[in-house]
Amino acid sequence: MRRFWLQRKLTKVIPFFSTLIILVYVCTIVFSNEDDSRLNTLGSMFVRPRLTIKHGINCSAIYDMEPVEVQKSLVVRKSYVGPSDKNVVNATSDCDRFVVSDGFDAIQGSEFEREFPLAYSLVVHKNADLVERLLRAIYMPHNVYCIHYDQKSSDDFKSAMQGLTRCLPNVFIASKLERVQYADISRLKAELNCLSDLMESEVKWKYIINLCGQDFPLRTNAELVSDLKMLKGKNMMESKRPGEKKQRWSFHHALKNDKAEYHEYPVRTSEEKPPPPHNIEMFVGSAYFTLSREFVLFVQRSPLATDFLSWSEDTYSPDEHFWATLVRVPGVPGEVLRSDPDITELHSKTHLVKWSYLEENLYPPCTGEHIRAVCVYGAAELRWLLNYGHWFANKVDPNIDPILIECLEEKLLEKRLISKS
Ligand SMILES: *[C@@H]1O[C@H](CO)[C@@H](O)[C@H](O)[C@H]1NC(C)=O
Ligand SMILES: *[C@@H]1O[C@H](CO)[C@@H](O)[C@H](O)[C@H]1NC(C)=O
Repeated sequence: MRRFWLQRKLTKVIPFFSTLIILVYVCTIVFSNEDDSRLNTLGSMFVRPRLTIKHGINCSAIYDMEPVEVQKSLVVRKSYVGPSDKNVVNATSDCDRFVVSDGFDAIQGSEFEREFPLAYSLVVHKNADLVERLLRAIYMPHNVYCIHYDQKSSDDFKSAMQGLTRCLPNVFIASKLERVQYADISRLKAELNCLSDLMESEVKWKYIINLCGQDFPLRTNAELVSDLKMLKGKNMMESKRPGEKKQRWSFHHALKNDKAEYHEYPVRTSEEKPPPPHNIEMFVGSAYFTLSREFVLFVQRSPLATDFLSWSEDTYSPDEHFWATLVRVPGVPGEVLRSDPDITELHSKTHLVKWSYLEENLYPPCTGEHIRAVCVYGAAELRWLLNYGHWFANKVDPNIDPILIECLEEKLLEKRLISKS
């Protein structure tokens, strides 16, 4: 009896003290220092040596697009060498040390965030260090994270991912792993494997977001939660009339070997395909989504969705029509009416992608580099990215611009600390 009483007393007292300690901690960071030392204090909360500190680069000035500061970032680009996959394997070999040294133990959500848990599906295949940075930027101990790595990934990369999941209890590897081929059904299956594992999780998440290894958040978890609450059970994704893209499912596609960049990819044959089952009306979008738990449950249980998936097996890039089409099926949770206008990438806030052929028209030019018509962002886009209103940036790569990622990390951390104080 006495012990029970003591336990109850303790469970009341411990949260009180830890809140007090966190408050004191946050206050010292936010109030105790002048501008100069503020940067250093923020810096000391980061894991790796900060290039911004080493080279005296001020992220607020980058945000203000001051030419001298942007120029400095261009110089740093050339000399960047990031940690290897082996380094991540090594870092995660001692978990007690890793969660502290890499800052995961210091992350805590507010009550508001904890009552609205999120799930993430990360389909990744290389650059373990960047995956770890992405994970840290979206990490909350009350959320849940599924990592699907490619069967073709290197052994070091696989070990690094296993290391991360060993150290973080709410991060796991998908129970079934695919050999992911470009534009092929395997990409969609990787996602579905994570989705069904996440449905089994004891975390009763409200929404799921899918990311790839070159995404980076533009919103804190708290900001994301308040945006998601406003969706009121709707899903967030592109869904447009197909136009020319009809070709993708009018013919049977077969995997072909490609000596160039991708190992294999689906190629159109002359064999015509029957129309989709159940009179499904086709729409196209992107592979990225934010889905409600109810919608995922529908996809798992509905024979229509299962039939549609098997019909999609031999289509081109099925992940770009699977979700966009299912969300328009009459009666689904969070349905978008078939008669509703197109939902384009400007309306769907999940991912901010900059296409080379829309630059100048829709947005300012890329200040990083293009990879297959997609911009890999540079530091001078920091302000544009953070103010656009979308949730995740695609693509980032420290080998193209390490300063952009550091400044995104810094700005997000600032926002998190300010909203807490
Ligand atoms: C960083 O830049 C901002 C805005 O340009 C400026 O207000 C601030 O004083 C600078 N901080 C340091 C430490 O130089
Ligand atoms: C492995 O980690 C230890 C301790 O964290 C460190 O001293 C050592 O240099 C690391 N080795 C490599 C190859 O990263």
